[in-house]
Amino acid sequence: MKNRAQILNLLLAIVLVVLAIKIALINSETSTTQQDTTMETILTRTSVRSYTDKVVEPEKIEQLLRAAMSAPTAVNKQPWAFIVVTDRALLDTLSVLLPYGKMLKSATTAIVVCGDLNKALLEVNQAYWVQDCSAASQNILLAAHAMGLGAVWTGVFPREDRVAEVRGVLNIPDNLVPLNVIPVGYPNGDSTPKDKWNIENIYYNRW
Ligand SMILES: Cc1cc2nc3c(=O)[nH]c(=O)nc-3n(C[C@H](O)[C@H](O)[C@H](O)COP(=O)(O)O)c2cc1C
Repeated sequence: MKNRAQILNLLLAIVLVVLAIKIALINSETSTTQQDTTMETILTRTSVRSYTDKVVEPEKIEQLLRAAMSAPTAVNKQPWAFIVVTDRALLDTLSVLLPYGKMLKSATTAIVVCGDLNKALLEVNQAYWVQDCSAASQNILLAAHAMGLGAVWTGVFPREDRVAEVRGVLNIPDNLVPLNVIPVGYPNGDSTPKDKWNIENIYYNRW
């Protein structure tokens, strides 16, 4: 009787060890797959400047904004505001005003990433808003690509003329500085990512 209980305990222990090993293997496989997917998204993103007329669903826009607001910011200030433009007339106007923004003509949506100086750090640290909003912008571009959408960063700041024009068209108050306009849409055709890997850009420890 005692022997039987010991054998059962041993069997149970073996089953538990096998289960633990299986769970560990599944977890490591999952994290490898996540790493692969993230790297794949980063390495295959490219600027997309031509879109179909399919409207980007509001829930997808929300996903893009969630990605944007997940970006790191200096002292966690999150000094930003995002203007989602879906109005055809406004998109057309922006496409004319921005010299390198012709693709806004075929986009059904654009996100204007703005730095909010009222939320930004002060004095010498204020300019960190540009890096904070750039991180948010890159998150939008990557998330769009991961979701099968296409997007491109269209520069506004630091060109004062473009900042003033975008402010004027979208009624943006003085404390907000439009950094860029990011048209988003379903890609019209394929775009090939550029291979920018260049070992000459890399230094170790000292120049
Ligand atoms: C600060 C900044 C400003 C940019 N401005 C424009 C622009 O006004 N119009 C445009 O078509 N692309 C613009 N781009 C996109 C670049 O042209 C593009 O990222 C670059 O050619 C590399 O191509 P890739 O994004 O496909 O890797 C801008 C990108 C950055 C980061």
